[in-house]
Amino acid sequence: MKFSNLYDSYQNRINVKLFRLLNALPFRNSILLKAMKYSTLSGGKRLRACLIYVVGKIFNVNIITLDVIASVIELIHSYSLIHDDLPCIDNDYFRRGKIACHVKYGQNFSLLAGDALQSLAFNILSSYIMPGIKNCVRLKMISELSNAIGSSGMCFGQTLDLEKKKNEINLLELEKINLYKTAFLIRSSVRLVLLASNFFSKNILFILDRFSISIGLAFQIQDDIFDIKNDIKKIKKKNKKKNTYPLLIGLKNSEKKVEKLYKEAFSILFLLKEKSFNIDTLELFLEFIIKRCE
Ligand code: IPE
Ligand code: IPE
Ligand code: MG
Ligand code: MG
Repeated sequence: MKFSNLYDSYQNRINVKLFRLLNALPFRNSILLKAMKYSTLSGGKRLRACLIYVVGKIFNVNIITLDVIASVIELIHSYSLIHDDLPCIDNDYFRRGKIACHVKYGQNFSLLAGDALQSLAFNILSSYIMPGIKNCVRLKMISELSNAIGSSGMCFGQTLDLEKKKNEINLLELEKINLYKTAFLIRSSVRLVLLASNFFSKNILFILDRFSISIGLAFQIQDDIFDIKNDIKKIKKKNKKKNTYPLLIGLKNSEKKVEKLYKEAFSILFLLKEKSFNIDTLELFLEFIIKRCE
């Protein structure tokens, strides 16, 4: 099977799950639900969900559990994007090829839609069936995710990004922003899968953390490169970002940095191979996201 076919099937799978769970909520005709659905079901790439399914297969995690983890992460991601686009943060007009949530529904309702998506994610993680997962493990998963996205994770990264917009920034500070605002949610996606598996050990956690941080950092730089390229092509999509690798070290050097980070991710995976895990599909996933650059 070609990886793009597998990706399509995972993408389709998570889209159906998200559609069903949002449609099962009460007050379906409220503006709040409409705004939540507008942003969540509006064609994200679902790369985090796909990563979750692929890593889950390596560690034999039940697919129902993976559905829960993938849904939760995509809900958190959607919430973060709604808030990120608000006039008080990045002030972006477009998201996922459509007008941003706040442009369509207003700042007030999009702020609340983001809040409600975050609550929904934790409601699902704390209550949906995950076969064989003990409550103590579930608690660890909740704790992990809440750490990754709050004042010691994503929100902190967003804060640094906002603060630094007003000042000169150096590479070290930029890497810190990208680590917190983007890589930590990706690391958490993989950590939740490992927690749900029977293979949890400090050693494997260390390997997976290094892997997900590398791809998380690469992913953000790639996103910033796309923004610049779209700008050059005059696809006026977004406000100009301030804290980015392309602005700091140029486009070519940023592409080299992405390549270096992905190479690191590949070499880290070798450590899993040595432990007899089958990482073939994860390697294909990596090749797939690298190709998005070209
Ligand atoms: C965009 O993430 C925001 C970043 C953290 C770079 P994605 O590129 O994964 O966004 P969607 O979900 O595909 O729209
Ligand atoms: C998005 O970062 C990261 C989060 C939402 C946490 P950016 O602001 O750099 O991403 P885009 O360009 O708006 O997708
Ligand atoms: Mg931002
Ligand atoms: Mg933004």
